[in-house]
Amino acid sequence: MAHAPQAKYRNDYQSPSHEITDLDLTFDLHDTETLVTAVSQVKQLQESATLFLDGENLNLKGVEVNGEQWSHYQQVDGGLELTELPKQFELTITTLINPEANTALEGLYKSGGAFCTQCEAEGFRRITYYMDRPDVLARYTTKVIADKEQFPFLLSNGNRIAEGDLSGGRHWVQWQDPHPKPAYLFALVAGDFDVLRDQYVTQSGRNVALEIFVDKGNLDRAHHAMTSLINSMKWDETRFNLEYDLDIYMIVAVDFFNMGAMENKGLNIFNSKFVLANEKTATDTDYLGIEAVIGHEYFHNWTGNRVTCRDWFQLSLKEGLTVFRDQEFSSDLGSRAVNRIGNVRIIRGPQFAEDASPMSHPIRPEKVIEMNNFYTLTVYEKGSEVIRMMHTLLGEVAFQKGMALYFERHDGTAATCEDFVEAMEDASGVDLKQFRLWYSQSGTPTVTVTSEYDASSLTYALTIEQKTETTQDQSEKYALHIPFDIELYSSNGDVIELRCNNQKISNVLNVTQDKQTFVFENVAEQPVPSLLREFSAPVKLEYAYSDNELIFLMVHARNEFARWDAGQMLLAKYIQSNVEAVRHGQSVTLPDSVVDAFRGVLLSEELEPAFIAEMMSLPSHNEVSGWYKCVDVDAIALVLKAIKLTLATELEDEFSAIYHSLEQGEYSVDHAAIGKRSLRNMALQYLAMTEKGNELVQLQYQKANNMTDTIAAMSAANSAQLACREDLLKDYSSQWKHDGLVMDKWFAIQGSNPGENALEVIRESMAHEAFSLKNPNRTRSLIGSFLNMNPVNFHAKSGEGYRFAGEILREMNSSNPQVASRLIDPLLKFRKYDEERQALIIAELESLKAMDNLANDLFEKVTKALES
Ligand code: TRP
Ligand code: ZN
Repeated sequence: MAHAPQAKYRNDYQSPSHEITDLDLTFDLHDTETLVTAVSQVKQLQESATLFLDGENLNLKGVEVNGEQWSHYQQVDGGLELTELPKQFELTITTLINPEANTALEGLYKSGGAFCTQCEAEGFRRITYYMDRPDVLARYTTKVIADKEQFPFLLSNGNRIAEGDLSGGRHWVQWQDPHPKPAYLFALVAGDFDVLRDQYVTQSGRNVALEIFVDKGNLDRAHHAMTSLINSMKWDETRFNLEYDLDIYMIVAVDFFNMGAMENKGLNIFNSKFVLANEKTATDTDYLGIEAVIGHEYFHNWTGNRVTCRDWFQLSLKEGLTVFRDQEFSSDLGSRAVNRIGNVRIIRGPQFAEDASPMSHPIRPEKVIEMNNFYTLTVYEKGSEVIRMMHTLLGEVAFQKGMALYFERHDGTAATCEDFVEAMEDASGVDLKQFRLWYSQSGTPTVTVTSEYDASSLTYALTIEQKTETTQDQSEKYALHIPFDIELYSSNGDVIELRCNNQKISNVLNVTQDKQTFVFENVAEQPVPSLLREFSAPVKLEYAYSDNELIFLMVHARNEFARWDAGQMLLAKYIQSNVEAVRHGQSVTLPDSVVDAFRGVLLSEELEPAFIAEMMSLPSHNEVSGWYKCVDVDAIALVLKAIKLTLATELEDEFSAIYHSLEQGEYSVDHAAIGKRSLRNMALQYLAMTEKGNELVQLQYQKANNMTDTIAAMSAANSAQLACREDLLKDYSSQWKHDGLVMDKWFAIQGSNPGENALEVIRESMAHEAFSLKNPNRTRSLIGSFLNMNPVNFHAKSGEGYRFAGEILREMNSSNPQVASRLIDPLLKFRKYDEERQALIIAELESLKAMDNLANDLFEKVTKALES
């Protein structure tokens, strides 16, 4: 490292020295030399006549103040310092940039043949010198000039106000966005596309033109995105009373994109993965992902754009809230239980793992080196859980009152997390003083519950203790306000009313102390408690359930989530005891009573197929690893496989009956059909492990009339290492080798291949014509799945998995540090493995640290990991 990058602290926030009321941009687009002219109307807000503008990788061509060349400036590290400025002036900055050389995909770059931008979080400073901070809001006009034949579509935020032709085959279009916005919401696109058009009439009767831009030839893959957009607009009106505020809403799908999608005002830019789908190319999971991401970016129009963030430490203000909104959207449109289960799996798996890692941080971080490193599961998913807890504490009506007050107070401004909580508090009268700790405290609390029934007094006491272990970023932890949702059942499955101090009380207990006891009265018999219903807080629950109690809850709990959770706890007990057994050289066993409980689930006639599929899916290797301080990779893999095989063998008849009864003729993507496919393909996964597996999987692959069934066959063949695996993969590749997005599923299967020669095949796959390390989707599919979904090979004792990861990371450090920084995460957790493995991983981290061009993104993570 030449010199260590500087950290920023939340507490150092200072309000801007100047405001910029208007920004007029002109882009003269050329592949390697694009000229950007930025004309700002600037007003001094504080004493100082010095103005600092952020800028990176820019070639400065001119600085003018009020139309005169200005010489009182200095190019400094990370920007431009202008001095001796008047109190109010027009500033003209001209810069030259090279979009074609931009492989980091931040700022202005080329994706395929098109120009596009990505400005969040701090990409605008790679376009021009500017106050690139979210609390500087300006009205933008943007003129885009480019070759007309190559780039017939020239797009930017807001409404199109003028256009014209120029000499030399060039043309221009000018856009105006009436809503003041921070630079991170700026967008520009120039290219040749097919356009899917529709329209939406808002609840107040305004007409909005909807346009989705996709690569030529892909129009038949844009319809689900359009349907999802219309559903989002409708839902936000119905549930949140929020209406769209421009006359046009555009979405552009691009192949090169670092993240999922971006909510630029009026001009969303999407990773094509979250737009393009038809039944031949996309799985049900892809369809649901598109619905969620289209919703997410649309919902940002209010939570993010109309009210934005004061500074980047407040990121969860828009992201946690918008994830909450997109989760509610998916739950209202589909199955609430299945959605909740999916979201909880993410928290209990990768988010808890992040909390326990060297990168642990609160949902509102205190210290940041590279902002791109904080678009995390903690800020997004745990952030959403924090919003959800407020929703639980306030109820829907008061929560919506809080939302309305939040908009009334902060519309058109840059706000803080504190502003949001205050609005919720003021609108509801609920005291959230202690609750605010969820914003500042990192780590996962463990909630330990014990119970005592007293038959003589007919009382039942629950003693609830909470403890948050220290994390690398924080040594002191305090008791949180935990909404703890419970229900008590009598032995015949009836709900027992909750009474305390002679009063009926709510199901949601307010746990606020390190340790407290709740005594329930009038309890006629020893009850079975259902605890942390709906996962009412992002905590680890510990309660010594007996097998019988869990089996009882799997059947009798009044809500589906609680039934699923009981099943997961039952599995967890046997995964843990078997891991211990295996470590002592014993074999894996599963009692008949447990097998029978799952047989009961499979035979149930009242449960939805999609829900049964969730009940039958074991926790992932990653989730199980999170239960241990020291992870035995091979023992966990062996136990999970053996338990799955036991269920497959014992329940073969039931799985087989389900598999055959759920065969569907015509393909459709409604939720009922998706649910049936997911249960049928879950059955296939188990059946793949039985004698008939190879034949069945091969047949499904041949007969599949949709991508969901195709991929289900391929991944069953992959995880069970069936004889047909090779043939299926070959056939798929020959069919799809020209379509990168479709090939991503193939790359992901190669990456997660549990077979012994996996790494060799992965290296070969990197030479596949569809593969490129320059494309983040390809990289995540092949390399990301090897690092995250192939525990046994990635953690091979030989260290070859780690060395491979190191090689890739050193290469990606220069080409695309943002993607590199996401890939590195599994290596940061090296303290959880045995000493030999630790040494091997440390060697790779040290070799990264020694690089003289190490990017800030990796610097921040590598140094934190090596300090652990
Ligand atoms: N705001 C985007 C979202 O809602 C996140 C995002 C997209 C992003 N592209 C990015 C963040 C690039 C950082 C860098 O989900
Ligand atoms: Zn977002």
